[in-house]
Amino acid sequence: MPSQLNHRTVRCSLIAWLVSSLFSQTYGVNVSGPNILLIMADDLGYGDLGCFGNNTIRTPNVDQLAKEGVKLTQHIAAASLCTPSRAAFLTGRYPIRSGMVSQINTRVFIRTGASGGLPANETTFAKLLQQKGYATGIIGKWHQGVNCESRNDHCHHPLNHGFDYFYGIPLTLINECQANKDPELDVQLQATYWFCTQMVALLVFTLLLIKMAALFPVKWKTIAFITLCGVLFFISWFINHGFVRYWNCMLMRDHTVIEQPINLENAASRIVKESVAFIERKKERPFLLFVSFFHVHTPCFTTKKFHGKSQHGLYGDNVEEMDWMVGKILAAVDRVGLRNNTFTYFASDHGGSLEAREGNTQIGGWNGRLKGGKGMGGWEGGIRVPGIVRWPGKIAANTILDEPTSLMDIFPTVAHLAGAPVPQDRIIDGKNLIALLQEEVQHSEHEFMFHYCGSYLHAVRWYQKESGALWKVHYVTPNFKPQEAGACYGNKMCQCFGDGVTQHNPPLLFDLSCDLSEANPLSPTSEPLFNIVITQIARVVAKHRNTLTPVPQQLDVYNVVWKSWLQPCCGTFPFCWCNDESSNDTIII
Ligand SMILES: *[C@@H]1O[C@H](CO)[C@@H](O)[C@H](O)[C@H]1NC(C)=O
Ligand SMILES: *[C@@H]1O[C@H](CO)[C@@H](O)[C@H](O)[C@H]1NC(C)=O
Ligand SMILES: *[C@@H]1O[C@H](CO)[C@@H](O)[C@H](O)[C@H]1NC(C)=O
Ligand SMILES: *[C@@H]1O[C@H](CO)[C@@H](O)[C@H](O)[C@H]1NC(C)=O
Ligand SMILES: *[C@@H]1O[C@H](CO)[C@@H](O)[C@H](O)[C@H]1NC(C)=O
Repeated sequence: MPSQLNHRTVRCSLIAWLVSSLFSQTYGVNVSGPNILLIMADDLGYGDLGCFGNNTIRTPNVDQLAKEGVKLTQHIAAASLCTPSRAAFLTGRYPIRSGMVSQINTRVFIRTGASGGLPANETTFAKLLQQKGYATGIIGKWHQGVNCESRNDHCHHPLNHGFDYFYGIPLTLINECQANKDPELDVQLQATYWFCTQMVALLVFTLLLIKMAALFPVKWKTIAFITLCGVLFFISWFINHGFVRYWNCMLMRDHTVIEQPINLENAASRIVKESVAFIERKKERPFLLFVSFFHVHTPCFTTKKFHGKSQHGLYGDNVEEMDWMVGKILAAVDRVGLRNNTFTYFASDHGGSLEAREGNTQIGGWNGRLKGGKGMGGWEGGIRVPGIVRWPGKIAANTILDEPTSLMDIFPTVAHLAGAPVPQDRIIDGKNLIALLQEEVQHSEHEFMFHYCGSYLHAVRWYQKESGALWKVHYVTPNFKPQEAGACYGNKMCQCFGDGVTQHNPPLLFDLSCDLSEANPLSPTSEPLFNIVITQIARVVAKHRNTLTPVPQQLDVYNVVWKSWLQPCCGTFPFCWCNDESSNDTIII
């Protein structure tokens, strides 16, 4: 018996050795470090989770994750909108450094057929880990651009940014993706085209009448020309109206468009299924999986199972469905026995949207006591998000970290875990969180954080660790519409510059450590340190500005407009229509 056992042990270790040497030959590097599972919700507010104090919404799976890990209560996004916040998350750098910020009102990509995107020379954490031999996948939303110069160059595509596998949408959810929702893209433009079409038709009709009645001479040439204009208006309207859904709501697997338009009905299940399959496929090898949910972004599509189940309408149903998805994915990690060897992270890309409404129903998130929300540069509600980290046995369970942390910190943190050096030829703004998470140090390395709105600096926070003061100055704040509303209902989103904002000189100053809701601006009389704080922060801003170098702007007018030759398409452009045959059987219980 003992010899048999021995045999088996020998055989096993032989196989293990063979596998591991084959492995390091195949990948040419030493693969070590834990698996990395990053889960990001879209537009989830600071007050939308049970573990962050919401006692009427049910998020048991996320709450459990928090119980088994660390809750980051001052987790800050680098921007209050998807495209720039995610660019910063992926690269560990303020998005102004990569050109992923805007000087105009369009601050995110709204078309797949645009030329802007995360520049190929930016390095994502996926690229670092891929070079270390990790299997890297992203499942869900990308929103960092697709093409540069031609339809299939895919220069901004996830597979060109260090991911081996992509399943998801290259853009973001828009209302057009769900057939029964009011359109949101180019609504005004469409209305203008339609109006012009009607006006021209009326004009042509009148001219024809005049000509028939021979009231005064009208040349046929003139009528033909005006008619042509009308036809062009009609075509523009038709394209903008009819094709938006096909051109912007698509599902890709790696480089291939597999469904256009995306069928949202079972999208939640498919995201779960894909994530679980990735984990099962890659369980032998360290993996990095970035699950980038469509939830809880509008239009808040929710499967029947969750319809009407929450106390908070369509939005609450969507949050609860997202929680269910988290549970399924974490269960898969447990099933393959990787719970203890997986660094798991959960966060939202930025705060909840106050302006997202359908009629009088709120379908955007709840930012708790924080002021403001999505789209606002400086107010806390737009940038402070729920954050959770779990790594059993390595990071203490059921703890709370109140220190300032940033979504950008994930970049150096996972690089450190994988043993990958971070790029030395550029500024990395994120800080490695491991020492803080393992309670080896008490304080965050983030002393100052800069809060941009597009490319405009709106606010700065200063965490004075000695005194515990958390100063925040606002140089610019958005003008709410209506003013007392606390949000920009009039415009659908607050603006960053011009008439949309108020400049403050002297700046507004708050101490968040005792005024989390930014309700009571301090003054030189109420706060003896007022001038010292303002001066010190101004000095730091000047220093920060010196570190910025001009880079190509990815969100300028040229780079955000639609270009037919860049439009991803699964058929023959402009007829982009296809159905993913395998998608029908996807229901997971
Ligand atoms: C791989 O890692 C082991 C243990 O950490 C180390 O001894 C070895 O030198 C490494 N090999 C390479 C090629 O880096
Ligand atoms: C819980 O979240 C819902 C949905 O966002 C929100 O409407 C509600 O006000 C929140 N409740 C509490 C107590 O935070
Ligand atoms: C996982 O880590 C926990 C906490 O340290 C420990 O109690 C448990 O035994 C570990 N499980 C395995 C399978 O190693
Ligand atoms: C990427 O290239 C642009 C110019 O094309 C340059 O301005 C920028 O500094 C480069 N970024 C990095 C990180 O090297
Ligand atoms: C999948 O479902 C769609 C819509 O319900 C249907 O048109 C299509 O035929 C189905 N495909 C398969 C392979 O069953």
